[in-house]
Formats: sequence, structure tokens, C-alpha cells
Amino acid sequence: MKEVLQTLKPYDTGKLRDNLRKELEVESIIALNSNENQYGCSPKVTEALSSFQNINIYSDGGDKKIVKKIAEHVNVHPNNVLIGAGLDEMIQIVSRTFLASEDNIVQADLTFGEYAYQAKIEGAEVKKVPLQQGDHDLNGMLAAVDERTKIIWVCNPNNPTGTYIPEDDSLSFLEKVPEEVMVVVDEAYFEYVTATNYPNTVPLIEKYPNLIVLRTFSKAYGLAGLRVGYALANAAVVNQLMKIKLPYNASSLSHVAAIAALDDQRFIEKCKEKNRKGLAQYFSFCEEFALSYYPSQGNFILIEMPQRVEEVCQFLLKKGILVRSGVDLGVPSAIRVTVGTSEQNEKCIGYLREMLQ
Ligand SMILES: Cc1ncc(COP(=O)(O)O)c(C=O)c1O
Repeated sequence: MKEVLQTLKPYDTGKLRDNLRKELEVESIIALNSNENQYGCSPKVTEALSSFQNINIYSDGGDKKIVKKIAEHVNVHPNNVLIGAGLDEMIQIVSRTFLASEDNIVQADLTFGEYAYQAKIEGAEVKKVPLQQGDHDLNGMLAAVDERTKIIWVCNPNNPTGTYIPEDDSLSFLEKVPEEVMVVVDEAYFEYVTATNYPNTVPLIEKYPNLIVLRTFSKAYGLAGLRVGYALANAAVVNQLMKIKLPYNASSLSHVAAIAALDDQRFIEKCKEKNRKGLAQYFSFCEEFALSYYPSQGNFILIEMPQRVEEVCQFLLKKGILVRSGVDLGVPSAIRVTVGTSEQNEKCIGYLREMLQ
């Protein structure tokens, strides 16, 4: 095997929720640990899936229908779109396309773990630039770029902090990045963003051939289990990524679901609005208890805990609530909680309050 694998651990997806429910003897598990959409998905998706018949046939390998639909939705040419089996796979495709063992990537420290993981598999070095008050230190990231840098990963909004990079900063950053270095902006939580100065990156792919924008159907669209996401980039870049992408990566079911999901923007608007209210529930709880937190733009919130984080997670677990321990994410003093329905949020906040009191 590759030597680097000795230093890596497979991703731990945790116990089966149903087993956990039986083990804990609780009525239900509220899973607020994976930033899934607690409102499910659009009824248009379930309707489209229930009438789908051709599972004996490979998906449209060229992804023509779904690519066309996404291209129309984001207003780009179909040649600018590449489909992935979720963004996890897209991160793998991008890493495999650009990285070799003499290369490096630059990323924030704390950010989504998959960028570093995939870079290591390709044998590349990972240069981490600490966040500044939860924000990407874009100048620090630029300073970290050297002649071996192939990719700068920018997670916007950032997981796990939920912080975002405003438009002005994004634009001046893109101007300064050397043109031979790819900038990959991961916008997995794009649909939840309410900040009015959030950058509109998609039209920039024509101006900056070194820019790739990533979006997913796993979060606001509620299709995490189906595995479908996409990259938007200059056609020349898409042509290279295409060589790495497996022909039938996202399943035919995921294509059908994603197309139906895009037709229900009302569902997205509703989820966004409920999420904004849910975040407000957590913000006021944090303020009441003087807990430090980042004003998230995603469907999750990172909260600093005065107690040991393992104890907090265990306490909530016994009540049937799963949250993400910061210990796994590189911020051992905090928990990351997915914003759920208002009842779920109330329940989780109620238990946290009980514990803190
Ligand atoms: C920032 C970010 N990028 C990418 C992903 C992967 O998403 P998926 O593979 O489900 O599209 C996640 C999932 O949590 C994420 O938080």
C-alpha cells in the first residue's frame, strides 16, 4: 500500500443511528452532528423518485440532463459544469487532477478535513494557515503560496466555524493569487447564506480560469444520502477534471432527484428562513450564557464549552441528541451543532441549559 496510508484513518461515520437508539433506550435519535437538512427534501424529489423505473440502466454517463439543468440554474454554459458523487468525491477528483508528490496545498486551519486528507493521499504537503477570529486569513494564505503550491482551498462559509468571506475580500484575493495556482471555493452551505455581501463567485469562472466553485445537493436540498454535487469552472478546467471523474459516478437516481430539487426553490427559501430563525435561537442561548460562538452562515454553529467537550457530548447523547465533538474537528474546546427544526433546537438548547446550570 501507499506509505502515507499508515498515517491516515478511515472516516468514522459513527454508529448506526437505529442501533444507537436501541442501545440508549431512547425513543428517537436527533442527529445534529452531520449538518444534514432536518426538514428532509422537497416533495417534488420524492415524487420524481417514486416514479423512476430504469435502475437496470447506467446513468446518463455524460450527465447531459443534470448538467443542462444546473447550467440553467446558475446561468453558465454546460461546458462549465462537472457532476460529482457529492463534494467529497469532487474534492478527490480535484486533488487527483492537480496534485503530485512534489506539490502542496494551502488551506485554513480549521476547515473541512477532506482537503488535507485527499492531498495527503496524493503525496502532497498540506500548508495550514490559522484562522483569524474564525475567518480565513487570506493574506496569510497568499504568503504561504510558493512555487510548489497547486491549490488554495477556501471554504465559504467555513465548516466548522460557519464564518464567511465577504465579496470585497474574495475579489481582491482572487486578483492576487498567481494564475497558475487553482483556487477552489467550497460553497457547500451556499443556499443557507443570508449575508448580503457574500460573493457571487459563479460569474468569475470566466475571468479567472484558475477558479473552481463547488456546490452540493447534500445540505439545503436535503439529498445527502443520494450523493450528488457539482463543480463550476472554466471549460478548459472541466475538461481536465472530466478525465479523472468516473463515468457513472453520481447514480441515475441522484440525477433525477437533483433535477426535481432544483425545480423547488420555494423549499430552499423556506429551509433558509427556518435555518435563520434556528440560528437565532442558538445565538441568544449563547449570549445568555456568555458562551463564545461564531455567527454562522451555515446550518450549524460552533460553540465554545466551559465543560469538557466529551462530557457535553455524552450528556446530550444520553438524551438521544448527537452533536459533533470539536475534538474530532481540531477545536477541542467546542461542539458543532447542526441547526434543526425549532423543536429540535429547543430540545438541544434545553439540555445544554440544564447542564450549564
Ligand atoms: C464544507 C464541506 N464541503 C464538502 C462537504 C461534503 O459534502 P457532500 O460530499 O455530501 O456533497 C461537506 C459535508 O459536510 C462540507 O461541510
